[in-house]
Amino acid sequence: MTFTLSQRAQKLTSSAIREILKVTERPEVISFAGGLPSPDTFPVERLREHTQRVLQETPTAALQYGPTEGYMALREWIAARHSSSASNVLVTTGSQQGLDLLGKVLIDTASRVLVETPTYLGALQAFSMCEPQFVSVPSDENGPVSASLAELARDARFMYCLPNFQNPTGRRIPLERRQQLVDIAANQGLLLLEDDPYGALSYSGDALPTMHSMNPDQVVHMGSFSKVLAPGLRVGYVIAPQSLHRKLVQAKQAADLHTPSFTQRIVYESIKDGFLDEHIPTIRKLYGERCTAMLSAMSRYFPAGVQWNRPEGGMFIWVTLPMGMDSTKLLERAIAANVAFVPGAPFFANNPQANTLRLSFVTVPPDKIETGVKILGSLLEST
Ligand SMILES: Cc1ncc(COP(=O)(O)O)c(C=O)c1O
Repeated sequence: MTFTLSQRAQKLTSSAIREILKVTERPEVISFAGGLPSPDTFPVERLREHTQRVLQETPTAALQYGPTEGYMALREWIAARHSSSASNVLVTTGSQQGLDLLGKVLIDTASRVLVETPTYLGALQAFSMCEPQFVSVPSDENGPVSASLAELARDARFMYCLPNFQNPTGRRIPLERRQQLVDIAANQGLLLLEDDPYGALSYSGDALPTMHSMNPDQVVHMGSFSKVLAPGLRVGYVIAPQSLHRKLVQAKQAADLHTPSFTQRIVYESIKDGFLDEHIPTIRKLYGERCTAMLSAMSRYFPAGVQWNRPEGGMFIWVTLPMGMDSTKLLERAIAANVAFVPGAPFFANNPQANTLRLSFVTVPPDKIETGVKILGSLLEST
């Protein structure tokens, strides 16, 4: 077969994480690499009931094409949760589609796009299709440092932010920092994209106000049912000001017409009577326990000089090895010893820090967390 790939396609590379996940499918591997939610949290029985109900009560609507904007009852529920209006809500095929659509409608070749340091790899991939110039905003344990933003904001199309339990670092932006970012963005006319799939997963159950709630005209909010219900449903959403919402709808129409009517209705069945609100605390509990198990094993087995954070929610712990160490080399040895993690370098838009790595603890039971961390600790000791 002969064909000519577009220049855009020629630049595409496979995600480093997907390549690693292939190796970790071997059952003997203890994998801290995946970013997948724990299947133990999927409410299978309830979803079976909800699916039945959808097919019994509204079969033709569930199986028919639907509006690009999404199923109205679901949009209204999302809007009410965010003190917004259904007319600002676009239901997307996972929040990943939100990233893709926002990239398409906001980025031209070489547009300046501000990102956290490090940031979600899937967003870098989605935006890269539009060939932006990524600008890494200096960040600390509380997220992007607001003092650096005023200067960097000039002519930028937007800043992409992860307010809660960031993928990959697990950090949360505190209230004061959120307010500063929102204020600077308003002063500079900078659009903020707030990607928030983990907001409901605080182990203690507390939640901070979204940046969207602080300034809905300047902040676009993305949410998802992937981490609180099931990612296979592929239901997420974007809440955006009217003018941007209209463009996103047009871009979505071209991409996939609409998110499946069927899964939107299943999600709606899961939320309308409060089931999701009862279910989320069980996820928080499981993830909190596994996080504690991993932190405790790390403090026992990791040698001095290795640093890590203590997340208050979500699915990830971020590890910084002593300067000069390369986590990709460590990964080769770890995989030989049947343990996997994700090196940190691909999460940096610029100047990758080779001495970092991401550990995900949610899919691994505590005894295996202990074993896997012990193996990593001994590899680190012998480096
Ligand atoms: C920060 C972040 N945004 C977006 C997504 C995409 O999620 P989904 O498309 O399943 O809603 C993920 C998935 O891991 C994520 O970590």
